[in-house]
Amino acid sequence: MPKTVLTGLRANGELTLGNYLGAILPMVQTLQNLEEGDKFFLFVPDLHSFTTPIDHTQLYRNSLNNIKIYLASGVDSNRENVFLYRQSHIPAHSELAWILSCFTYYGELQRMIQFKEKSSQQGQNVSVGLFTYPILMAADILLYGADYVPVGEDQRQHLELARDLAIRFNNKFGEIFVVPQVWQKQLEFVKRVEGTKIYSLTDPTKKMSKSINDPKGTILLTDKPLDAAKKIMSAATDNLASINWDWNNQPGITNLLQIYALLKNIPTHEAVKIWKGQTQYSNLKKETAELVVEFLTNLQARVSKITDAQAEDILQKGEINATKIAKQTLLKVQKAVGVVKSQ
Ligand code: TRP
Repeated sequence: MPKTVLTGLRANGELTLGNYLGAILPMVQTLQNLEEGDKFFLFVPDLHSFTTPIDHTQLYRNSLNNIKIYLASGVDSNRENVFLYRQSHIPAHSELAWILSCFTYYGELQRMIQFKEKSSQQGQNVSVGLFTYPILMAADILLYGADYVPVGEDQRQHLELARDLAIRFNNKFGEIFVVPQVWQKQLEFVKRVEGTKIYSLTDPTKKMSKSINDPKGTILLTDKPLDAAKKIMSAATDNLASINWDWNNQPGITNLLQIYALLKNIPTHEAVKIWKGQTQYSNLKKETAELVVEFLTNLQARVSKITDAQAEDILQKGEINATKIAKQTLLKVQKAVGVVKSQ
């Protein structure tokens, strides 16, 4: 059975080495392994980027930059079954979100953990957009008939809402939406699409993240290669003086082994075989730093060759093709709810 895979790439801020190794690289590999008839929708949920306040002067640029990084990482936009687009450029997303909002229960949204967490952090002036965000996300998914939506655990409830809405709508109006796969199936799929987590170089018990202020622990894809090498060289390790794959007792060294293996494109057990028991951490750091320098230098060279105009062209083409599919689904919905004549 051909499958439809869809995922959103957030446009807020810069991407890290952790994003690359944990999400982009496995996604590129999944794309390369698509089978005949499969479709892959890869979009920028730019309307989702300001449910909490942002610097709007950066949004457009961030969307383009993220797309450039995907292209430079090997996403082949010429393939007929790959769709790259911006949510904001396909009005059907907002239209379907409104219609779905009238079939979503207030209490259902109130239960969303991410809303509770983010709204409590923000204090006053929590936007309605933050509250209804999961409905727009459901529209993103249901417009294209997605079976698989590779997202992290933090998005589980949102994905389940999309399923519930699809089922509710179909029960009322007939088979209109494809119901996305259950979470367990999603997990099995995500395992193939998502690699392992990369941790902070200063505190290897925390995820590498641009959102916590941890510049020395985080390698940005835009970092100067030599600065990134320094971060690897000063990565926090331990004083056991023996290299082992051991997340519990040696998370810093294990994190480095993981980065080393992924950049060298070898399985982790091979990396472990090479390094196990060695006592000089500086050797592992030096070789990992060299791999990071080589990787960033190549990636940045490829990104800089893609002009804004080229990225915009690719997006526009993707938007034309995705619009066709989105409009077909929207039309079915419009007929079902009675705003368009049904035959
Ligand atoms: N909410 C997702 C996130 O925060 C981004 C997103 C928006 C998304 N719409 C989506 C992901 C649809 C997958 C499918 O990361």
